[in-house]
Parts: sequence; C-alpha cells; structure tokens
Amino acid sequence: MNQRFLLPLLLFMITASAAIAQPYNTLWIPDTLSGTTFALTMNAATKQFRTGAVTNTYGYNGNAYLGPTLIMHKGDSVQIHVTNNLMDSTTLHWHGFHIPAMMDGGPHQPIPPGTTWSPMFRIRNNAATFWYHPHLHMMTEQQMMMGLTGMIIVRDDQESALALPRTYGVDDIPLILHDRRFDNSNQLVQDTYGDSMLVNGTLSAQLAAPAQMVRFRVLNAASERAYNIGFSDNRTFYVIGTDGGLLNAPVPVTRKVLGVGERVEIIVDFSGQSGQSVDLMAYNAGQKMGYPGSEPQASGKFGSALNNRNFRMLHIAVGPSTTAPITVLPKQLTTITFLDPTAVNVTRQVKLTDGFNGSAFRFDSTSFNMEVINKTVHLNDVEIWELKNISAFSHTFHIHDVEFNILSRNGVAPNAEEHGWKDVALVNMNETVRFITRFEDFADPEHPYMYHCHIGFHEDGGMMGQFVVVQSPSGIAEGGITTGGSGLRIAPNPATDLLTVRINGGDIAKVQIINYAGMIVTERTPSANGAVDIAGLPAGLYFLRATDTRGISRVGKFIRM
Ligand code: C2O
Ligand code: CU
Ligand code: CU
Repeated sequence: MNQRFLLPLLLFMITASAAIAQPYNTLWIPDTLSGTTFALTMNAATKQFRTGAVTNTYGYNGNAYLGPTLIMHKGDSVQIHVTNNLMDSTTLHWHGFHIPAMMDGGPHQPIPPGTTWSPMFRIRNNAATFWYHPHLHMMTEQQMMMGLTGMIIVRDDQESALALPRTYGVDDIPLILHDRRFDNSNQLVQDTYGDSMLVNGTLSAQLAAPAQMVRFRVLNAASERAYNIGFSDNRTFYVIGTDGGLLNAPVPVTRKVLGVGERVEIIVDFSGQSGQSVDLMAYNAGQKMGYPGSEPQASGKFGSALNNRNFRMLHIAVGPSTTAPITVLPKQLTTITFLDPTAVNVTRQVKLTDGFNGSAFRFDSTSFNMEVINKTVHLNDVEIWELKNISAFSHTFHIHDVEFNILSRNGVAPNAEEHGWKDVALVNMNETVRFITRFEDFADPEHPYMYHCHIGFHEDGGMMGQFVVVQSPSGIAEGGITTGGSGLRIAPNPATDLLTVRINGGDIAKVQIINYAGMIVTERTPSANGAVDIAGLPAGLYFLRATDTRGISRVGKFIRM
C-alpha cells in the first residue's frame, strides 16, 4: 500500500479551508523567438509572486521565471546557443523532437556553469506544441521547479493551410500548467505537490479572450499532478492535437486528463459570449486511486491544498471578437498514417514497478544507471512497447526520439482524443498501455536516448532507462568499424566548408560521408593534406569513414554547420 494514501483524513479536515478570494492577475504570455538561430540563457532571478518577500527563481533570457516561446518551422535547420549562467550544471532537452541523440539535451549533454552548448538539427516534427526543460540526472525536478521550462511551437505548411486560430497571444494561447509550494518566506519548496496553481507562472491568472474560437496549447509542466481539464459551465471543447500533431478531426469533449509532460491543443468557442466569463478548471476531485493529486491529505509530503479537489486554474473574461475571427472549425485536420500493428519487428514489455512502502519507483525493478544501456533498437524497426503498471501509483511514460500511437489501454482502443501522435502516455495504476512506434533516421551506438516517467521525483529517483538505435545488421555497423577515436582526427568540428581528416601513421586514400540514415552521401579522395570539401552538404550530423593507404578504416562523426 502506498504510504501517501494512509494519512488520516483528519489532516485534510483541519487544513481544507477555502482559498481566500484574491484579485486576478493578468495571465503572462511569454515572448516569442523565431527564425533559425536562437539564443537561450539560463539565469537565476527573483520574482514577486506574492506580497512580502520576493521568491528566488530561475528563468531563461532575463525572464524571472519560465522562458520565451520558440517558434520553429518544419524543414528548417536550426541552431540554438544555450548558455548556462547558473551556478550548477544543467542541460536543455527539446521535449518531443525527433533529432540525433547528441543534440537531444538529455543527461549525457551537460552544460557546465558559464559555458554555451550549441546544438543544431533539422525540424522534422509536424506542427504541434513541444517544450524545453533541463534534464540533468537527479536535478531535473529541482531546476524545473525553480522555473526552467518553455514552450516550442512548430509550424508546418499543412497546419498553416487550415483555418485555425493561430495568432499567438490573441486567439492562440500558451498555457503552461503547474502547481507550486511556497514556504513562509515565499521561497519555492521542492515538494511533490504545490498548494498554488500557476499558469504561465501567474498566480490566480485571468485571460481576456476574444468572443470567437480560441486555441489553447496546454502543457502539463507540473512535478507530479495530473489535471482533468474542463470548464466551469461544463461546455464542450474540441481536442485538435496531441503531443506530436493534429488529430484527424476535432474531437468534442467536456473533460481531458493531462498527465505530466503531455500537451493537448484544444479549441474553445467563445462566440457571442462577450461580457461573460468562465473558468478553466481542474476537475481533480474523486479520481481513482493512483491518480496524481488524488491523495486525500491537504499538507505534508504527498499532501496539498489542491489534492482531491476541483479547482480553478484560469479565469477567462470574454471580450469583443477580433476583426477576422475564426468561427467554425475545419471538419478534417489531417490524415494520420497509423503504424500497422501486424507488421512489427519487435515487441517489448516494460514493467512500471515498486513504490510500495515508500520505495522508489523503477522500470523492471531496476534503477536508472547512466552507464547502462537498457535497450538496443534497430534503425527503422517498428516496435510495440507494452507498459505494464504493477506499481503503487500512476505514471506518465515518456520516450525520446520518437512519437508513438497508443494501441490500447487494458486491451481497449484509446479514446478518439488520444488517437494521434504522442510522446507521453499516462499509465494508470494497474493499467497496461501498448504503443507502436518506428525508430527512424538516427542510428548512433554511442549516444543513448532516454525513456522515463515524467513525474519529477520518479525520474530523478531512478524511473528512467536508456536505449540506443543502431544500424540493422546490413548497415554500416557491420564490418568491424571503429566508431570515433582510434587515431582518427576530424578538424575543425563542427565545420562549415573544409574538413581536415587524418589517421595516425597513414595517408588518407578515401573518405566516405554517411548520413544518419546510414546512406553514403558522398565519397571523396582527399587532397594530399587530408582536406575534404563539405561545403555542398546540407547542415547536420554525419559519419565519416576514412580509409588510409594501408587499408585501415576508421569512423568518426562530424557536424556540418
Ligand atoms: Cu520532457 Cu526526457 O523529457
Ligand atoms: Cu523528452
Ligand atoms: Cu512515475
């Protein structure tokens, strides 16, 4: 039995006094950055959240809390300069992006204090809502709690052609949800649950919305709590997109549970409602055991004033419509090509385990170890992962690199609003979730991707594993190739136009440049000094296989900027 459900109801009854009514604060809308070159700087700051003492925080780009919204376009090659001006190491992970593992910003790409990390990659994801956050092992929860989180909006031609609300901050509103706990001197407390709901870092937030169709990009960036979102008048709203892109068609709902790490894009129709108001709510009362935030106690380690209650997240005051409002929804949004469960190369099971009597949650009763690769996946394989939750709580399972389609929950096909591309799945207590995915594009035996529970303390506590994607047996991994090191030198790296390639003690006879799909892009005979012209290659990460005049081959990697 999970200890968090054992505390007496007495505590709840003492502390469940209703929140004192307070004036609303205007919902903060993060600034946007767009283009193909971005700069993000992490800084410590202070923010006046409450009356009295300021709160120590972290933010990006001079913001006291959270970061700018990055707007990127599918197909663009982007570079981001990430500067760490904190006192601690950190990382920056592009949650949901299909990019090389080296660029992923997971625990293996630390950014020491005072340094800049400059990953680059091509945006291959479809238009959707993604996010960025730190991912330093055992520090993720703390650094996110202090305010390191931002949203990413990917646009593409297909989504742009639809008549959907798309004016950022006007009829297309980012909503970063999390709850936080403040101590008596107004400092953030690193605890499972907070007692105060923040939306975009705003307490008691209010939004002035136009009287028309409004799109909300909702991100659950909490440490642990799930939000069963709905509106105070029980109105129907429309789910148009999941973590990784648009659904085939808008799905009408009155409630949508969002677990930690998940995003949902919804459309709410405020047409003709100018002068009225409605609240965006979390209908968290009476959820089943294991639901994050269902614990009865109102204070203490797993307690919170928001537990097991319905509470307001955002007050929405509807005002006049804009000049060219969206008033009808497209009937069709996209046509998803779902992966075929009858054409699967590998089926795996991951058990979500432990948590009884206060033990740390794990996968397959094994704690995360930075030095251990838990799974090896073959490039281009289609896999089914069966997530079997036999632990004492619900979890949100997230996998890097790929997006997946949920096949079933306890054998039943998912609801229509979940039948799209996902990178996080809530796996309820006693539930088995099966998903299907395909591992395309980026084989790299040296750099793993993560999969983990996105609940902060669970992830930091060891509920994480890692996998590498390798070339299938017919690919370049065969034939005794040494990857990296071993006397091969490639300089400069990254490079823009000219590489110098050397193998100790030999003259280079031939150079092959291989892309991440394992295809030979070009074969060159370098000049006498080992110079190879790469100016004509698209930006990206490549393998380089050099063979010297003695017939010795070495493989390394380089980045074409
Ligand atoms: Cu949102 Cu592994 O991360
Ligand atoms: Cu991620
Ligand atoms: Cu978990």
